[in-house]
Amino acid sequence: MWLRFQVSDEVYTVTIGATVPTGFENTAAEEVQEKIGANAKISKDRGRIYFQITTDKLSQVHHLRSVDNLFVVVEEYDNYQFKDSKEETLEDLQKLASKLPWSDALKVWNMNTTLKKKRGPHRQPQGPRELEAPTADQGEGAGGVRTPALEILGEQQEVPGQELGAKVLKFRVTCNRAGDKHSFSSNEAARDFGGAVQELFQWKADMTKFDIEVLLNIHNVEMVIGIALTEESLHRRNITHFGPTTLRSTLCYGMLRLCKPQASDVILDPMCGTGAIPLEGAIEWQQAFYLAGDNNDMAVSRTVNNICHIQKKRRDKGSISGLPIDTVQWDLCHLPMRTSSVDIIITDMPFGKRMGSRKNNWDLYPSCLKEMARVTRPGSGKAVILTQDKKCFQKAISRMGGLWRKHHTVWVNVGGLHAGVFLLKRTLGIFGQIAEDSREGKESKPHEEKPGEERKKE
Ligand SMILES: C[S@@+](CC[C@H](N)C(=O)[O-])C[C@H]1O[C@@H](n2cnc3c(N)ncnc32)[C@H](O)[C@@H]1O
Repeated sequence: MWLRFQVSDEVYTVTIGATVPTGFENTAAEEVQEKIGANAKISKDRGRIYFQITTDKLSQVHHLRSVDNLFVVVEEYDNYQFKDSKEETLEDLQKLASKLPWSDALKVWNMNTTLKKKRGPHRQPQGPRELEAPTADQGEGAGGVRTPALEILGEQQEVPGQELGAKVLKFRVTCNRAGDKHSFSSNEAARDFGGAVQELFQWKADMTKFDIEVLLNIHNVEMVIGIALTEESLHRRNITHFGPTTLRSTLCYGMLRLCKPQASDVILDPMCGTGAIPLEGAIEWQQAFYLAGDNNDMAVSRTVNNICHIQKKRRDKGSISGLPIDTVQWDLCHLPMRTSSVDIIITDMPFGKRMGSRKNNWDLYPSCLKEMARVTRPGSGKAVILTQDKKCFQKAISRMGGLWRKHHTVWVNVGGLHAGVFLLKRTLGIFGQIAEDSREGKESKPHEEKPGEERKKE
């Protein structure tokens, strides 16, 4: 197969796929609409969205805050007819490779390589691999830059990589498969489809040091073939000093969007851990002010280090404004804050698994909901709380109808655990003047979820 990587200003439309934190697909679609002006389609396969862009907008997709990984779609099938037998299916996948419309997707991959090259050498991970953070900068798009791919394959002419005597592209195929009606395994699909791709392009297979990653995403009868545009997840962007339960910045972004921060809001994360939530807020919603606190001195120093790292990066890029965030060591059950002084509380409570214990949560959750109610403004205050200890949380909140009203729940997956992000609204009840378990919350009944409603959304 002859490949043409043209250096041109041609603008065309391609479909971009993005993996997003499970449960926050709608939030991600909203962000895409807001920042790129594209309507995103939410895949049946939870945790994915698809949207179309013109290629001049390629650099913008790297600035989305709710997406983890990005890829350009080569072809998508809503109802791919997998054969019953493994042999026939794998043979079909092999045949498919040469029939796919690779050209535009490969040109986008090539443009993307240009963008990556322009932002300089890849940063080495300092923390756990899955929590590492890249950044993406504006690039020049398709025009005028000699990219690694062009160096490899020759410019403005049709060339087979190997005959040029130039470096041959290395690639791998990754198959993500969900569904129990397939006669083949992910490895078998990746191997056989990969073999056909290799034959087609004369690329060299390399599972670890690859230039191109071809994706084969199969979900029941839906199949999408794509080319990866990110080497590592974009959620690894803010944190350099990790803790045992550091949240993905993309999930933090989704939580922050739920509470719609406004200019001059005072926003508190009273159990900040490494500061992932308030740091994402301070970067993205800079008109609000953030307080990050924790009772653990190691957590506090991690947060300070993470903030300092981002401040330094910003200064190095010429920014003179500091981030609107302070860090405090405190016990959440006795916050050094005035009553009714906070607009939003946004936090990730100990699940009682890797952090704290289920037994302690029975005391901790009611005490902290009460103290949070004291410091938030009656009538307008909000809280967005992530926890996997749903039973304990639901029980605690059901006894605080006088102070908190449960407004909305998003079910998410945190490291394989099924957790809830609960949006609470502070009632008009004045702290200390209304019984916390009174039925004052009843007045806002129309907004409450009916029993079982949350489960149906899963
Ligand atoms: C699940 S972790 C938060 C992780 C954080 N979102 C991050 O991304 O790193 C919960 C945090 O609550 C803190 N914590 C537990 N009890 C507390 C209390 N009474 N007061 C303040 N912080 C507390 C723990 O030290 C821990 O850092």
